[in-house]
Amino acid sequence: MEFYDVVNKRRTSREFLDKDVDFDKIKRILEAGNKAPTWNHNRNWSYIILKTDEEKEYAFEHAKKIADRFDVEKYLNVPRPYPITLGQLMYAHAMPRQFTMLKDAPYVIIPVFKSKELNGDSVSKLNPFSTIWCVIENIFLAAAAEGLSCSMRIPLNEEHDIVKEKLKVPPTYMIPVFIGIGYADPNEKELEQCFPDIDKQIHFGRWK
Ligand SMILES: Cc1cc2nc3c(=O)[nH]c(=O)nc-3n(C[C@H](O)[C@H](O)[C@H](O)COP(=O)(O)O)c2cc1C
Repeated sequence: MEFYDVVNKRRTSREFLDKDVDFDKIKRILEAGNKAPTWNHNRNWSYIILKTDEEKEYAFEHAKKIADRFDVEKYLNVPRPYPITLGQLMYAHAMPRQFTMLKDAPYVIIPVFKSKELNGDSVSKLNPFSTIWCVIENIFLAAAAEGLSCSMRIPLNEEHDIVKEKLKVPPTYMIPVFIGIGYADPNEKELEQCFPDIDKQIHFGRWK
């Protein structure tokens, strides 16, 4: 697939078809992840792969609780002094699916990167984190090129350490995201996106 077709085709999916994925595709996608730029030349990240229902249920017990607790109707109907935003509509669609979008994906990929804890004192101190997000975007694009789609959940607060412990991730590594990967269900509701005007985003020479 042509590069810009891939970029335009990629979107986050939260509902998947009950159709298995050839593991060779997953390996090609991870190889694409490994081609990402790296801050320290080491590429010392790893991937944990979850395949069975038991593995996914065990890892994402916390996400399931959060999703089950979420009351969509209450959230959508909360009085607001302004019309509901696209971001809030996305949140209302995403929240009840935070567990099923991982459980129903034939594979879950969990990248782990070497960092004891995040240090956000300066932008450059976040290089390990920035690097793994380059890897993650390559994974998303490679999945789209393979005709697949991804869900993504960022572990929320203590969820990070809970899952890290369950999966026996070494103390010197962190988990940036959980990625569900599979064939997108074409019947999933497509949410309206916000696309900024590129001409308004570009500032030549300086901000103003
Ligand atoms: C840093 C980051 C964190 C995100 N966290 C979540 C998440 O926890 N759960 C979720 O369902 N989607 C999450 N998303 C997906 C966004 O909701 C999605 O990318 C956005 O709505 C734009 O849609 P698109 O990916 O289809 O273009 C996240 C995306 C990014 C880049």
